Parts: sequence; C-alpha cells; structure tokens
Amino acid sequence: MIEELKSIKPAQIVGNWKMNMTIIEARAFISTLALIKPAEVTKIGLAVPFTMIAPASETARGSVIAIGAQDISAHLQGAHTGDISSQMIVDAGASFVIIGHSERRLQHHEDDALINKKIHAALSTRLQIILCIGETLEQREKGLTEEVLKNQILVDTKDVSADQFQRIVIAYEPLWAIGSGKTATPDQVQTTHRYIRSLVNSAWSPETAQGLAILYGGSVREDNSAQLLALPDVNGLLVGGASLSVDSFSKIIHAREAEKKIVI
Ligand code: PGA
Repeated sequence: MIEELKSIKPAQIVGNWKMNMTIIEARAFISTLALIKPAEVTKIGLAVPFTMIAPASETARGSVIAIGAQDISAHLQGAHTGDISSQMIVDAGASFVIIGHSERRLQHHEDDALINKKIHAALSTRLQIILCIGETLEQREKGLTEEVLKNQILVDTKDVSADQFQRIVIAYEPLWAIGSGKTATPDQVQTTHRYIRSLVNSAWSPETAQGLAILYGGSVREDNSAQLLALPDVNGLLVGGASLSVDSFSKIIHAREAEKKIVI
C-alpha cells in the first residue's frame, strides 16, 4: 500500500545554525531557500545567532520561513549584562526560540530550574518554544532514558498550563547523536517519542498530547530524514550541521515528499 499523507499535522523542519554564518551568508541562504517550494504540509524554521535575527527576518519576510533564536535570558529585563530577553528577540523579528539545547545545558551549566524560568520568560511573549530534551549515552545504557526525559519535561514545564503548552514543541535530541554522525535507530526514536507523548497525555491531557509536535534531532541528514519523518510519532526534525548547507537543508525539507512514496 502506498502511504497517503499520514498526518494532517504539518511536519516542522527546523535548522539550528548554532554559532555559524555571517549576516551576508544568512541573507544569501534565506533568499535561496525562499525560492524552493516546500511540500504544502511542511513548516520551515531557522534558529539563527542573535545578530542575524533582524536581517534574517527581513530577508524571510513574505516566505514560509520562520526565524527564531537559539536561547533567551530567564529574566525579562534589567541589569543582566550580555543577556538578550524574550521581548528583544520578538522585537528583532523572531517568532520562536529554542530552549534547553544540550549545548546550553552542558557548556553553560543550565539546569532544569533555569530552563523552566526561560520557558516562562518566552511564554510572557507570543513566542513559540522548541524545548530540547535528551539523555546521555551512559544514561541510555543504564536504562535511565525514560526517567531522565520525564524529569526534564516535568521540571522544565513546571507551572505551564495546558493552554500555554500548545505553544511548546518538544525536540528529542539524544546527546550521543548530536554532531556525532550517529543517528538513533528508527526503533529507538519511535519508542522514545511514543513515551514522550504518553507522558504528556498523563501529565496534561489526551488533547494536549495529540496536538503536541515532537521533533527528532541528532545527526539528521538528507539520507536519513525520510525514514525518520515516516515514523508515526515524529512530527518534524531539528537539524544542526546539515542546516548550514542550503542544498542539504532543502533536500531534508523535500524528504517529506519522498516519505509519501514509501511503501509500507
Ligand atoms: P546535529 O545537531 O544535526 O549537527 O547533530 C543537532 C542539534 O544540535 O540540534
């Protein structure tokens, strides 16, 4: 049987540029990307460095590309030298923000209590949130994956209402798969995404769980994206390294069309 468009939920393909690119490169990338015609069910996002939010948003205007940030301060304003607030990124043109990326957790010692404050800071504006969670290789090997993810989700989203939860997308990014070239197997991804949805089902509501978009991230490339997108509980992809090449990123966006042709 040829699989029909399996879900009415649009697949979200989000690039995370991390600390890469210049303003000139960002403008050229977005102008080229804006020319491609994405599958009608695909939403495209680019999480760019702070300095590129305004020019990237200006270049992306009128296209289907949403521009976002990779982090925000937990504070709303005030004496926080070097920090950037949620309101500031909205002012610069961002429509979403990544919170809790493992590189922030590890390199900046961000814990779940701080991530929870950042979530509330983002919720004080109209930003959409991509909350990143994931286990280390050691935790997976010890059978702790579900416990680790449960703790991250429950603490990171403490005091978030069901209504507010609708603005949160969860990105499952196993730490051992990020930038390592080692993608989690389809079975590991599907089992873990199903677990995340069931947790949200019991902690919030069946409707919240049903409406939740869960992205997979960790060494996503053009040659594994169609297979990942075909999994029932995968609603999109968070792409690091492969989002730095407009050619690779475009192929990942079009993987959704390849997926429709997969024979199951
Ligand atoms: P990667 O990064 O695709 O380069 O593994 C993913 C991420 O860190 O979001």
